Amino acid sequence: MRVLGIETSCDETGVAVYDSEKSLLGHELYSQVALHAEYGGVVPELASRDHIRKLIPLVEDILQKTDSKGAIDAVAYTSGPGLIGALLVGSCVGRSLAYAWGVPAIGVHHMEGHLLAPQLEDNPPAFPFVALLVSGGHTQLVEVKGIGHYRMLGESLDDAAGEAFDKAAKMMDLDYPGGPHIARLAKKGVPGRFKFPRPMTDRPGLDFSFSGLKTYTLNTVTKHALDDGLPDDQTCADIAHAFQEAVVDTLVIKCRRALQECEMDTLIIAGGVSANNRLRERLEQALTKINCGVFYARHEFCTDNGAMIAFAGCQRLLAGEKENLSVDVLPRWPLDTLGSL
Ligand code: KG4
Ligand code: ZN
Repeated sequence: MRVLGIETSCDETGVAVYDSEKSLLGHELYSQVALHAEYGGVVPELASRDHIRKLIPLVEDILQKTDSKGAIDAVAYTSGPGLIGALLVGSCVGRSLAYAWGVPAIGVHHMEGHLLAPQLEDNPPAFPFVALLVSGGHTQLVEVKGIGHYRMLGESLDDAAGEAFDKAAKMMDLDYPGGPHIARLAKKGVPGRFKFPRPMTDRPGLDFSFSGLKTYTLNTVTKHALDDGLPDDQTCADIAHAFQEAVVDTLVIKCRRALQECEMDTLIIAGGVSANNRLRERLEQALTKINCGVFYARHEFCTDNGAMIAFAGCQRLLAGEKENLSVDVLPRWPLDTLGSL
């Protein structure tokens, strides 16, 4: 089965063609980062309008590059969670193409897409496993026994990990999205100059909270600010380092705890923050010690992309899932309400 995948839930327009026999044939991404840069975050209406401009040319391009014109068996698109206008663009285009081609269409849960992205790599993780989903909107630990067999173990009570990176970056006048900027700056930081709190690690449970860490970061920035409102470059690097260590440490502690609670030996990490090299390195070190393995996707499939949507949709269609012709999007959609395969 050959599936066209469409992702438009936020500020990336992603398309891909996945073939269940030949694997991923190709993918393309257009990032709106530059468009939103001057606002310091995603402006929903601008995002929707830009998806309208970019989506169809990208689809035409990927069909040509993968030699898939007339060969698509189904269309998968992100139907939630995400920005409602942005979701509507992908779902309307996806459903219309499917109708015109006389093939089925399926709406995919964005976080299930992330969760399954490591399956696109060589040597994919086998079920069951624990998944750490860390994106701009979600921080969740999930017990995964198969596709759609999801049990929520814990999640953030306030800010998501990616959101915390973005806000910390903004405090130091770094561009959106802040994660990669903080990671780059942190490399120049002096370890140990600042020690930031590891929220909610001193009590049992698998939930997260990053808002206190955000306030701690703001207070540190303010305390060291010079006349222009910012600390000097080295102090910013030291703050970025301490902030990243605190987030990574917190995530590592909770992942180890989740694996022990579920008596599992495999962790997958997915979502934008799973592109963070320090997180990968620290998880590898910590999990090797307890004979557990960690899997993740290549960097471009950690952040939003069409390949994960094509893959997730393909699995559900192969299992016989069908949808009617209505265009439904779900800006809020709990992952553990999905049907299992
Ligand atoms: O999964 P994603 O592309 O979009 C959502 O579904 O939200 O995740 C975007 C988030 C942003 O908050 C961004 O700052 C963060 O992922 N991110 C990173 C890195 N790359 C992206 N955070 C930390 N380190 C990175 N290298
Ligand atoms: Zn995402």
